Amino acid sequence: MIIEYNEVHQHIKEWCIVEKIIEIKNLSYQVKDTKILHNINLNIEEGEDVTFVGPSGSGKSTLMRIIASMISASSGEVLFKGQKIENIDPIEYRQKISYAFQQPTLFGKTIKDNLAFPFEVRKQEFDRQKVTGYLEMVNLNETYIDKSVNDVSGGEKQRIALLRNLIFPPEVLITDEVTTGLDTENKAIVHRMLKDFNEQGLTILKVTHDETEINDAAIKITIRDGEIANV
Ligand SMILES: Nc1ncnc2c1ncn2[C@@H]1O[C@H](COP(=O)(O)OP(=O)(O)OP(=O)(O)O)[C@@H](O)[C@H]1O
Ligand SMILES: [Mg+2]
Repeated sequence: MIIEYNEVHQHIKEWCIVEKIIEIKNLSYQVKDTKILHNINLNIEEGEDVTFVGPSGSGKSTLMRIIASMISASSGEVLFKGQKIENIDPIEYRQKISYAFQQPTLFGKTIKDNLAFPFEVRKQEFDRQKVTGYLEMVNLNETYIDKSVNDVSGGEKQRIALLRNLIFPPEVLITDEVTTGLDTENKAIVHRMLKDFNEQGLTILKVTHDETEINDAAIKITIRDGEIANV
């Protein structure tokens, strides 16, 4: 008997408990009369590395903000591990789904203020050694801890902001054009780091216009005019 590969694949997916970490059902978002997202249906499985592409203004960041529960959909729903996200405690949800902004800002006076924040939220002592290890992952060193937020470059700021999301790894990391403006070397460093986290089970949703990232995408979803496009 010949069984189609797709059929086998489908069965394997059903048998091995590949958990859907995020389900989006009939989601729409509109501001006044303007429809920004319409009828989005999407399943993301645990451990996937999904790349969102599409023209500027097509709704990618809006969709990510909804998934991160920073704004609410106008209709439809987003489920995290089968639970409606509006029913999950916001503080708990923020630690599980972390959104690395398209244009990150650092707060406070020093880099330490930023990197100590994830510890404060969890009522833990600042762990200098751990933070140094993370800084080194993105080609920065311990001296950055005490630098002023005004004395770091745009690319350094981006990498430090990303560490804020990763010091306590979430279950889902959303990166919104986080490598824009980085040079080739630092882009590669960020790619390597995200790949390592993904291999350890982190689910990643990334938004990008970067050709290399688009070509390397494991799973690619195109958003066009607020809808998932059949490319
Ligand atoms: N609160 C809002 N009020 C009005 N329009 C909005 C609002 N939020 C987003 N938009 C509009 O929705 C559209 C989608 O915006 P979004 O930021 O999601 O695009 P994007 O795909 O991330 O684009 P880019 O690739 O340039 O980052 C844009 O036309 C934007 O102007
Ligand atoms: Mg955007």
